[in-house]
Amino acid sequence: MIKIYAPASIGNVGVGFDILGAAITPINGSLLGDLVTIQSSKTFQLINKGIFSKKLPKRTEENIVWKCWSKFCKTIKKNILVSIILEKNMPIGSGLGSSACSVVATLVAMNEFCKKPLNSRELLLLMGKIEGEISGSVHYDNVAPSYLGGLQLILEDTETISQRIPNFQNWYWIIAWPGIKVSTAEARKILPKTYQKNICIQNSRHLAGFIHASYTQQPYLAARLMQDFMAEPYRIKLLPNFIQTKKKIKEIGAISCGISGSGPTIFAISENIKIAEKISLWLRKNYLQNETGFVHICFLDLKGSRRIG
Ligand code: HSE
Repeated sequence: MIKIYAPASIGNVGVGFDILGAAITPINGSLLGDLVTIQSSKTFQLINKGIFSKKLPKRTEENIVWKCWSKFCKTIKKNILVSIILEKNMPIGSGLGSSACSVVATLVAMNEFCKKPLNSRELLLLMGKIEGEISGSVHYDNVAPSYLGGLQLILEDTETISQRIPNFQNWYWIIAWPGIKVSTAEARKILPKTYQKNICIQNSRHLAGFIHASYTQQPYLAARLMQDFMAEPYRIKLLPNFIQTKKKIKEIGAISCGISGSGPTIFAISENIKIAEKISLWLRKNYLQNETGFVHICFLDLKGSRRIG
């Protein structure tokens, strides 16, 4: 039996639309991600468990885990009969890489179960392809961090898809999911097809500066440069009171604040646990729209997907 955990992630990280992604883990030690358990079986079987399993499609063939299993079997040209348990603990359409958690956990579990027929590059390519089919276009900024851990810079080069960049050890990442759904495919559709030259230059300058600040360990420069010119201006309307919320969080003391992936989760950064707790409390009181929403204070998850138990 193989049980794999794949952590939640923050796509874009404010400044790197489709290029930066961060895996996260709550500081209280709880797991924030999906779990997939695989064991051999005479027939294929998929059992859905977990807090958000009721939100999954009724038809097995529409379940991401089934798609991953089917694509994996096709890729290795073998029909692997297994029983799979998905523990769907991530809310769908939350901007926390929920689909990536299921994709990563399933593919890593299948690969381990079959004694690693795919290398990590082949596995990541397959993860990106499936994520692309779900969201409308290939983007690795959730699957790469969830699979490999830490802060990932997506390169999509002929040799390397993603590389880890240095992180700031003192940063607390506060995330708040308001309890409502935003479809990634829809949130991508509302973005412009082309951007003005000045926006491209501004974006390149900020992203390059952020990478430089990460390598030279300048946390305040990095935080100041975490600005989103590509997606945030168009996605503001998808989040409840985003502008006022961001303003308030900055007033409380966050050094950065932005939309996690395609939203509606918001993220904030602080180096001070007292401030992180204040932000968390404020978000819990003011940003959550219903009782399913949640707030977590997190560190970066440096391990990525891993075997549990
Ligand atoms: N980079 C993707 C987007 C992340 O913003 O559409 C989706 O979670």
